[in-house]
Amino acid sequence: MATDLSDLKNELNPEQYEAVMTINGPILIIAGAGSGKTRVITFRIAHMLDSGVPQSQILALTFTNKAAKEMVERIKELTGKKLPLLTISTFHAFGVKVLRQDISKLGWRENFSIYDETDRNALIKETGRELRYSPEALDIYKIGILISDIKTGRKQWNAENEMYRELYEGYQEGLKLYNAVDFDDLIVLPIRLFKEFPEILASYKQRYKYIMVDEFQDTSHQQYEMMH
Ligand SMILES: Nc1ncnc2c1ncn2[C@@H]1O[C@H](COP(=O)(O)OP(=O)(O)O)[C@@H](O)[C@H]1O
Ligand SMILES: [Mg+2]
Repeated sequence: MATDLSDLKNELNPEQYEAVMTINGPILIIAGAGSGKTRVITFRIAHMLDSGVPQSQILALTFTNKAAKEMVERIKELTGKKLPLLTISTFHAFGVKVLRQDISKLGWRENFSIYDETDRNALIKETGRELRYSPEALDIYKIGILISDIKTGRKQWNAENEMYRELYEGYQEGLKLYNAVDFDDLIVLPIRLFKEFPEILASYKQRYKYIMVDEFQDTSHQQYEMMH
C-alpha cells in the first residue's frame, strides 16, 4: 500500500521536510553519512509525483546500479504507482541511453558494444602490435590510465607522454572499427553530442525539468559537465 504522503512530517525531520517540499529551484544538501540525504531525494521524487509532476520530467543520478534500483523500488512503494517513464540511473547508464538514441551522428552504429577493462586492454595490445611498439614499452595498465586521462581531459599531451599519441589515436580508431565504446566514452560522447548537436541538447533540456544527483561530492569533472 502507498504511504500517506500527506503525513510526511512524521517520516522526516524538519530540514528533510523542507527539502522534500521544495519542488522548484536548486537545492544543495550537505550532511553526514547516514543522516538521511538519499531519503530526501527518494521522498522528494515521491512528493513531486504526488504533486502532479510528470514522471518523464524527472532524472535522478546515482552512483551505483544497486542504489538506482533501490530508489525506484522505494518510490514505487511510496506512491503506489508503476513508473515506466521515471529515469533513475547511474551517470554511465544514462550515457548509454543517450548514445543508443543518437550515437550514429558520431559515426558509430546504435548496437555498439561497451568495452570493459579486459576488452580495452586487448585493444591496446592489438593496436600496439600493429604500430610495432616494443612489448616492453607497453605497460598496458599505465597506458590504460593515460588513455582515460587524455580522453576525459585530466591530462594533455606533453613531452613525456607524446610517444603514446599514435597508440591513442590507433586505439580510438580501433574502437570505431569494432563499433565499440569504452567506459569513459559513456560520459564523454554524450557531452560531445550535447555540444555538437544543439537540437539533441534541447530535447533533453525540454524533457528533464527536475534533475537530482546523489553523492554529488563524488562526481567527476566530466560527470558534472554532462549533468550541467
Ligand atoms: N527522518 C527519518 N526518519 C526515519 N528514518 C530515517 C530518517 N532519515 C533517515 N532515515 C533512515 O536512516 C538510514 C540512512 O539514511 P540515508 O538516506 O541512506 O542517509 P545518507 O544518504 O545521508 O547516507 C536509512 O535507513 C533511512 O531510511
Ligand atoms: Mg546516501
